[in-house]
Amino acid sequence: MKERAQDVRWHAVANAEALQQRAAERILQAASDSIRARNCFLVVLAGGQTPRGAYVLLRRAKADWAKWQVFFGDERCLPADDADRNSRMASDSWLDQVPIPKANVHLIPAELGAPAAEVYAETLRNVGEFDLVLLGLGEDGHTASLFPGRDWGVALDSPDVVAVADAPKPPSGRISLSAVRLSRARQVLFMVEGERKRGAVSDWRNGLDIPARAIRPANGVDVLVEDKLLSSKRAS
Ligand code: 6PG
Repeated sequence: MKERAQDVRWHAVANAEALQQRAAERILQAASDSIRARNCFLVVLAGGQTPRGAYVLLRRAKADWAKWQVFFGDERCLPADDADRNSRMASDSWLDQVPIPKANVHLIPAELGAPAAEVYAETLRNVGEFDLVLLGLGEDGHTASLFPGRDWGVALDSPDVVAVADAPKPPSGRISLSAVRLSRARQVLFMVEGERKRGAVSDWRNGLDIPARAIRPANGVDVLVEDKLLSSKRAS
């Protein structure tokens, strides 16, 4: 079957603060729409530091938290309480401050190392299409823990979850949802800010085959991006 091309909608925002605000608004709107339509909201959180500002804004939001089911797009193979865990960043900035039932926050047990991939695949076994997948973009065009030169799990028969042993962004050991599983989503929202992402944005817009381009949901992807990264000139 011919692979679907990626449909990308670029949303330029003035600065990082505006980006975080827009992201939080879009997350809450997706939650409200999903809960109204299906009485639940299946959201996949992005790791890294970019989403922190949006997560902090969600801390004070009013939402039907009991109907949220929270998953993670990837996790670093570190001890469960390590400060560098993606789940730790989300919990400290947001999840621990709102009444989402603990059973609704589905952590990747990445402290187990590679075996966590099968464990998390089992967690996802009965989970259908995500309502919203949040993703970041690395300087090399990676997203989640899908890095250039590795297998991103694009083929339709790819596993839902992959173990990564040689990630160029520390730590080298990671667990990641595959490209095909991240693409099984009603909405995918990338958040991209910071001068150091300029090259990856340019590569993406010029059609280079970076991992972010492998995320191809039927409804396309939306990218919140600082408008300075869409111009060709570099910051002075
Ligand atoms: C991780 C993330 C990774 C991240 C990008 C961007 O574990 O690091 O999953 O994909 O989203 O590297 O990271 P920043 O938002 O910190 O720039």
